[in-house]
Amino acid sequence: MPKKEQKPLPYDTGSLKGISQKTVEIHHGKLYAGYVNKSNEIKEKLKPIVESGKAEGNQIYSELRGLKLGESFANNGVYLHENYFAILGGDGIPKGEVADAVAKKYGSVDGFKVYFSACGMAARGWAILAWDMHEQDLRIFTCDAQNHGGIWGAVPIIAMDVYEHSYFIDTGSDRAAYIKAFYDNLNWDKINELYARARQYKLD
Ligand SMILES: [Fe+2]
Repeated sequence: MPKKEQKPLPYDTGSLKGISQKTVEIHHGKLYAGYVNKSNEIKEKLKPIVESGKAEGNQIYSELRGLKLGESFANNGVYLHENYFAILGGDGIPKGEVADAVAKKYGSVDGFKVYFSACGMAARGWAILAWDMHEQDLRIFTCDAQNHGGIWGAVPIIAMDVYEHSYFIDTGSDRAAYIKAFYDNLNWDKINELYARARQYKLD
């Protein structure tokens, strides 16, 4: 049973523009690490239940229900944060096939940013540009929690964390200022790499 390992940041914690070293240290070093650790813990706790051959569940409350809810929350917390940290650390200058695709779909890259920003303001957890493997198209989803709001068969390309822990130290309640900083730090080379990989899969 493979254990999840925390992925290191591909840049220095203090190297982002408008997102402080303290925020990145807490976000990556404690919160993301917590998702990795809890994901492993839940897997360990499920193992004897699975192997016993006598698993029992109850929809009002049961240990299994708690573990299964925690499993999707913790694992999505790992995967979305890994996307989030991987696509930051760049110069923020849009380029490549993703920039062309969002410009075509939303009128311009700025048009994409207007809509994606609004989705980030409307969400309580995440705004996510994802490749829908069914529709073979880019789509934007919003999540109030990381295990609610996404759809099956969609691969995150740009996951924007809008939980308050992403920005409150730096911009207080001004989420819009944080979203602007998020764009300023995007690594479009990495985003294009993820886009190219995601487009290899077709579900329909
Ligand atoms: Fe987060």
